[in-house]
Amino acid sequence: MHQGGGYLLATLLVFLAVFPQPGVMVKQEDFKQCSQSAFCLRQRAYADLADITRASSPSPCELVPGSLDVKSEEGVVTASLIDRERNIPFSFNVNLLERDTARVSIKESRPLKPRYELTGDLALDAKYPASVPVGSVKHHGADTTIRFGKDERNSLLIRSKPFSFELAIGGVPAISFNDKGYLYYEHWRPKKDEEAAPAVENQAPEPEGAVPAAGSTEEKIRNLKENLKKDLWEETFNGKTDSKPHGPASIGFDVSFLGSKNVYGIPQHASDFSLKSTRGPHKAYEEPYRMYNLDVFEYIMDSPMALYGSIPFMMSHKKGATAGIYWMNAAEMWVDVETHGAESVLSKAAEYLHLGHTNTTTTTHWMAESGALDFFVFLGTKPTDIFNSFTALTGRPAMPQSFAIAYHQCRWNYMDEQDVSDVDENFDKYDIPFDVLWLDIEHTDGKRYFTWDPVKFANPVAMQENLASKGRKMVTIIDPHIKRDDNFHISKDFKDKGMFIKDKDGNDFDGWCWPGSSNWIDYTDEKARANWADKFSFANYKGSTPSLYTWNDMNEPSVFSGPETTMPKDALHKDSVEHRDVHNVYGTLFHRSTFQGHLDRNNGKDRPFILSRAFFAGTQRYGAIWTGDNFSKWSHLEASVPMLLTIGSSGVVFGGADVGGFFGNPEPDLLLRWYQVAAFQPFFRAHAHIDTKRREPWLFGEPYTTLIRAAIRHRYKILPYLYTLFEESTRTGNPVMRPMVAEFPKDEKSFSVGDQFMLGSGILVKPVITKEQASVDVYLPSSSVWYDYETFEKASPSSSSGIVTVKTPLEKIPIFLRGGNIIPRRERVRRSSSLMHRDPYTLWVAVDGEGKANGRLYADDGHSYDYQKGDFIDSEFTFSASVLKGRAINTPNLDSAAIKALGCRMERIVLVGLKAAPRRVVVADGGDKLTLQVETRKVSGGLHVATVKTGGNIVIGETWELVIE
Ligand code: NOJ
Repeated sequence: MHQGGGYLLATLLVFLAVFPQPGVMVKQEDFKQCSQSAFCLRQRAYADLADITRASSPSPCELVPGSLDVKSEEGVVTASLIDRERNIPFSFNVNLLERDTARVSIKESRPLKPRYELTGDLALDAKYPASVPVGSVKHHGADTTIRFGKDERNSLLIRSKPFSFELAIGGVPAISFNDKGYLYYEHWRPKKDEEAAPAVENQAPEPEGAVPAAGSTEEKIRNLKENLKKDLWEETFNGKTDSKPHGPASIGFDVSFLGSKNVYGIPQHASDFSLKSTRGPHKAYEEPYRMYNLDVFEYIMDSPMALYGSIPFMMSHKKGATAGIYWMNAAEMWVDVETHGAESVLSKAAEYLHLGHTNTTTTTHWMAESGALDFFVFLGTKPTDIFNSFTALTGRPAMPQSFAIAYHQCRWNYMDEQDVSDVDENFDKYDIPFDVLWLDIEHTDGKRYFTWDPVKFANPVAMQENLASKGRKMVTIIDPHIKRDDNFHISKDFKDKGMFIKDKDGNDFDGWCWPGSSNWIDYTDEKARANWADKFSFANYKGSTPSLYTWNDMNEPSVFSGPETTMPKDALHKDSVEHRDVHNVYGTLFHRSTFQGHLDRNNGKDRPFILSRAFFAGTQRYGAIWTGDNFSKWSHLEASVPMLLTIGSSGVVFGGADVGGFFGNPEPDLLLRWYQVAAFQPFFRAHAHIDTKRREPWLFGEPYTTLIRAAIRHRYKILPYLYTLFEESTRTGNPVMRPMVAEFPKDEKSFSVGDQFMLGSGILVKPVITKEQASVDVYLPSSSVWYDYETFEKASPSSSSGIVTVKTPLEKIPIFLRGGNIIPRRERVRRSSSLMHRDPYTLWVAVDGEGKANGRLYADDGHSYDYQKGDFIDSEFTFSASVLKGRAINTPNLDSAAIKALGCRMERIVLVGLKAAPRRVVVADGGDKLTLQVETRKVSGGLHVATVKTGGNIVIGETWELVIE
């Protein structure tokens, strides 16, 4: 297929305009600020007005007297609300659900047309939580308190005038709604009314000739009221007009996290884990956090700007109470955050005395362009309660295949089959393990996905089979833009079936992306999703084999010629749904449909592996994400930790950042430092832009090759532990890479820590984030004992600050084992993870202050769904009073022959933190005692490390006991 010169030039110009080359940083002016997104301007103006006027005129929203109705058995509370100022009636509905969850909706009672609702399984798991009955109900004056949950531990206090409500856990107020009176609902209206009337209908007109003094409160109020009327029916940004045929439909409201100084969530932003204020005297940003999936190349650090994914979920934590909110809405959203009172003398004293931040509250202001006011509140006493309830609702993470959590080698592009083969062989030559080789867009025939360049990739099957012979896989990129070309079967098929997104006039939407003129499939249409899934069958995807998996990129969607490089909001989906209503979930529907295709191609037998760039609530059901186009800079390495903590704490536990940075050429030490930390993050992939220098691990000479090899090999050794953590995530939603607050919910110093992380509960990692950094300070909570990951020496942090300073020569970043944990490992690193599948295990037993430890190992075949039938091994280990025990904690189907076949022998046990050197170690097996070989060494601080060789006498999955004498 040959293109004319004009076509190529046009493509190049569009490419250069929207996708600048390295060194050209993102142009902030290409993306909207709140004041340029008309609804955000109006909603912020409403909040400012409220702040000025609420003392004299409270929120106009009131509960209609006598309308509150409690349906005890159904767990439902309803009431009528009225906005007195604008005379708009609303219905208020609360549904109490299991897991201390409540669903709240406020809807216009008589809308001109229905609002778009993200219903069905678009954003929720098919297994929707059941309702719980209402407990006791008490009326006090016009207000009502309703109790619910186990032992009536939760309460919902509804205040009627002005309308607000508050939820408490065990009597501790946690979260409240409309305390600030920001509830502002732009109801549907006919255009003619709007032109005739001011936005705030029942306001008295300004008296003629009354011009308020410059800078006066009156002038501020007048200007804010003017802002409320801005750009209601059409708006233009950077020359692109949004026709907004239905007019304004935004919704704003405030949620306060009572007594909490820290809130987390609402990814994706290149910012801290504990969200900074965007309002009030201590604000760090002028702009609210924006959630609008966008292709933002070389993104700015420390910024609330929108990035590739959005999850409208936020969590707060204080001692004894954790609360979360999920607004089920996929429209453009902005959130202001303001922490009050943290600076007050009372708060400072409370903090000093570790009393909790009783005087501190974080207020958040949520603003969405359209959609429904339908959200969920989650209550608990620790973050893990909220991870659990949020993912019970939006879906538990999918269980990855074991190869997917190993190391991935990617670049834009591995240019041809020879290149692939050379890279593959060099990994072996340099004795570096890897599992997956990735092909970017250049592998296709003219950016037609599902095809192969006929010259460079003429033998895709042989290429994949060659990798597969070493247990390795391949991933190819498949984007959602479809080259307009009637000779391309995908384009023709979707066009003929009318399954493309339409422009506002009803024609197939035509925009620019990598292939030039393209169409976008409407993944909101179930039939289009099924049709897409079908394209992944081995018959349809020519040249694909069972070891080929998929990378979904550009699915925000990225449209080079569109407003803010994305789809126009007035483009139309099935049933004339405007793109504005579904924008943030679009990429996830594409991801989901690809996931389905992979499931189907093997009749549901093989677990899919699909990487997506865009994400939304529930993405965890379909696979992994990465943080997009970062840069080879130390600041981007630093940002990867809080970014991944936030994403992981918002349900999407399988995340990673491009190792080395996508744009630019990393200095060797930056690349090494990146490998050292990414080896402990959930998704571990090196990737680079097409214009960068080659940077495979062996290209930097010594000591870098050796040290990068060591980092990757660390990863392979902890794969059993990681796999066990992923399995835990599929049942609990607990992130694999955890914020300190999740593991130490009673330790206030942990609450705001976002620059180090826990891998599960047993390993703590802190990156080195500056060049030639000789040492790093690490915070080690005093409730645990900590051991250096390599020397096993006990850490001695300062007793007042909990900080320990760790020397960081090139070969080391701070990693600690947490006493009380048993970590399963495999020490014999091979070329790929599948070649290690039958190798014996090693257990690292790190004892706590009482000489105890426990841990777990989950193992299965690593690729199929047979584990759902019980074909797995789930072993629990406990160490106490010098006895180490192992036993199966579930009853798997496997008999002991099958257990042995799964490679569950244990070859070594390393006991860390022993107060005395063992005299001998015996297997307590009925009457006979078998003495095992043990080597002991003393480490500084007088503790001992004992390495026990089991001689193959212990099988994981069976019951066994070792006595340390
Ligand atoms: C953008 C992605 O973020 C990047 O990872 C990829 O290499 C390019 N698209 C080309 O496909």
